[in-house]
Amino acid sequence: MVNPGLLKTAALAVAIVYMVVANVPPATPQMSSCNQVVNRLMPCASYVVNGGGVPLACCSGIRSLNSTAKTKADRQGVCNCLKSVLNGIPSNAYNISLATGLPTTCGVDMPYKISPSTDCKSVK
Ligand SMILES: *[C@@H]1O[C@H](CO)[C@@H](O)[C@H](O)[C@H]1NC(C)=O
Ligand SMILES: *[C@@H]1O[C@H](CO)[C@@H](O)[C@H](O)[C@H]1NC(C)=O
Repeated sequence: MVNPGLLKTAALAVAIVYMVVANVPPATPQMSSCNQVVNRLMPCASYVVNGGGVPLACCSGIRSLNSTAKTKADRQGVCNCLKSVLNGIPSNAYNISLATGLPTTCGVDMPYKISPSTDCKSVK
């Protein structure tokens, strides 16, 4: 038997990769930075789908994401990236409250929420 949680995780990872590849024009700076954002958060995929313990790699991804986004423009860029990725994933494919709570769970004081409905323009 294949673990259904694992299947969902794999489906989510594929959806994220597909999103990033399909929806953003190649070779723009935005593209590479959004890819980097997604890469950093890949270790979080199984947690936001299945819950359980947060992988250490996920928290270090969140932390490095937070600390590399130094300017308002950087933070809005990361916010828009996360938002568009989440909006491309069916809301029943993952646990939104787990995704939104990730920075808190990891003890990172992120200035905005990871959510499909974040208002990125108001990110400071
Ligand atoms: C999301 O995860 C939380 C914490 O594990 C759980 O209490 C909640 O029921 C989950 N929600 C969904 C929609 O699965
Ligand atoms: C996250 O970013 C915010 C805003 O830039 C900063 O105040 C905070 O100290 C950062 N947290 C960590 C854990 O890096």
